[in-house]
Amino acid sequence: MTRTISIIPQPGKLEVGSGAFALTAETRIFASDASVPMGYYLARLLRPVIGFQLPGERTSTSPDTANAITLRLTPGSGKKRPAPESYALSVTDAGITIEAPRPAGLFYGVQTLRQFLPPAIESQTSPSGVAWTIPHVSIEDAPRYSWRGMHLDVSRHFFSVSFVKRYIDLLAMYKFNRFHWHLTDDQGWRIEIKSHPRLTEIGAWRTERDGTISGGFYTQDEIREVVDYAREHFITVVPEIEMPGHAQAALAAYPELACTSGPGEIAVWNRWGISKEVFCAGKEATFDLLEDVLAEVVALFPGPYVHVGGDECPKDRWSACDDCQARIQAEGLADENALQSYFIKRISRFLSKRNRQLIGWDEILEGGLAERAIVMSWRGTEGGIQAARAGHDVIMTPTSHCYFDYKHADRPDEPGQWGVIPLKKVYDYEPTPAELTPAEAQHVLGSQGNVWSESMPTTRDVEQMVFPRLCALAEVVWSPRGQRDWEDFKARLRAHGERLQALDVEYYRDQEIWPA
Ligand code: ACM
Ligand code: ZN
Repeated sequence: MTRTISIIPQPGKLEVGSGAFALTAETRIFASDASVPMGYYLARLLRPVIGFQLPGERTSTSPDTANAITLRLTPGSGKKRPAPESYALSVTDAGITIEAPRPAGLFYGVQTLRQFLPPAIESQTSPSGVAWTIPHVSIEDAPRYSWRGMHLDVSRHFFSVSFVKRYIDLLAMYKFNRFHWHLTDDQGWRIEIKSHPRLTEIGAWRTERDGTISGGFYTQDEIREVVDYAREHFITVVPEIEMPGHAQAALAAYPELACTSGPGEIAVWNRWGISKEVFCAGKEATFDLLEDVLAEVVALFPGPYVHVGGDECPKDRWSACDDCQARIQAEGLADENALQSYFIKRISRFLSKRNRQLIGWDEILEGGLAERAIVMSWRGTEGGIQAARAGHDVIMTPTSHCYFDYKHADRPDEPGQWGVIPLKKVYDYEPTPAELTPAEAQHVLGSQGNVWSESMPTTRDVEQMVFPRLCALAEVVWSPRGQRDWEDFKARLRAHGERLQALDVEYYRDQEIWPA
C-alpha cells in the first residue's frame, strides 16, 4: 500500500500518519439530521466497496465509530466563525470522521475522501482484489475563493441534459461551486420560454451551410432537473441570457425586435463570429420580451445571479436606427456606448427588484456600470481591476489563462481555436491582480474557466478541451496561494489520469504529464 497521495485540489493542511484504515463491506456510514443526504451520497460513491444494497445505518445517537465513516455537522460557536465551505477529515484506526460547519463542507470532505481511494472506486462495478485502504491522515481544508466556476456554451453546439449532469459531477469532484450555463447566442436559443415559444420553435434550430438542421433546447422541466442536480452537488447554476448583442437566434424568432431588418431577413446564424444583428434598444417591445424572459429565468434559477452577457455588441444597427437614436435623444445619452449602458442598467433594475444580481462581461463597464453589477473580466484583467476599484465584485476569467477552447499546445494539428493556453499557464494563474489594494482585492470573488463550443461538436471534444486544465484551475481557486507547486501538481495529476480513465473522461494526453 504505497499509493502516493494525490488529492486535487491540494488541501490546505494535510498530515499523513503511518497506518491505514481498510474499508470493507461491513463499513458503516453514520450521519444524522442535516448530514443524512450526504451519507446517502457517500454510500452511492462507495458502492464498489460496500455493495449495492441500501447504504449503511444512520443514527442520531453516538455511534460506535469502529469501522465507520462518521459525517458530523459542527456549526461552531463563539466569535471565531468557521469558513462556510471548510471541512476537517480524519482517518485513524478508530475510523473516518468528516466534520464541517455546513453540508457543503461535508460534501468537499467526501470528495477528498473519494480521491484517497483507488481509481476503481469510480468504476461503479464491484472489482475484486482491490485493497480499499486509506492512509491515516488529518486534513483541515477550506477554499481560497468563493467563486470557483466553470462555464459551458451550449449555443454553438447543443449538449444533452445527461452530459450537463456529468459535467456537474466532474466539477463537483474538483470542488467547483458555480456552473455558468451559456444558454443563448447568435447560433441558438436553448431555454424554453413559455410566454414566447418561438424562441425555441425557431431560435433553437439552425440550418447549417450543408443544409442539415442542428440544434435543440432544454424544457423548463429539464432546466429544473439540472438546477436540482447542481444544488445536490453544492453548485449554483448561473444562467446566461445574452443581450443586447449575441442575439441573432432570438431575432430570427422575433425580427420585429431588431433595428432595421424585416421579417424573413434574419435566420439563426450558421457562422461563427459576432453578428451585427442585435436587440433594438429603442423599442419598448425589446424590454417587454426580455423582461418576460427574465421573469421565467428567475423563477427557474433560485441562485442569486443572472448573467446577461453584454459583450461584443456592434453598434452599427443602433447608429442607423431611428428608434435607437430617438432613445439616445430622449434619455440625453452621449452616444451608442451610453445606450448600451442604459440597456444594461434598465435590465439590472428589473433583476434587482427580483432579488437577483446582474453579472456581465467587462463591456458593461463602457458608458457606466449598473449599480451592484458584477463584472466578469475576460478581455484581460483591466476590466476587473477597474470594477474592483469602483467597489464592484468581479470574477477573473481572462482569455490569457481561462479560455479552455484555446489549444492545449502550439501545434497546427491540435484541436482548439484562437490561441494556446498550456496546462502550466493555467496552473500558474493568479486571479487577484497585484495592482489591487487589499481592500479592493476583497472584490475578487474568484475565477472561472470558459468553454466556448464552436470547435466542439461532441461531448468528447468538450471533455478533451477541458481536461486536465480544469484540474489546474481547481487548484488555483481552492488551494492556498503559497502551496502551489507545479512539480508536485504534475505528479498528482499523473495519478489522476487513471481516475479520469475510470470515469471514462476523454482528457488531453499532455506529454509533459503522461509521456507516451
Ligand atoms: C466572450 O468571450 N465573448 C465573453
Ligand atoms: Zn434600434
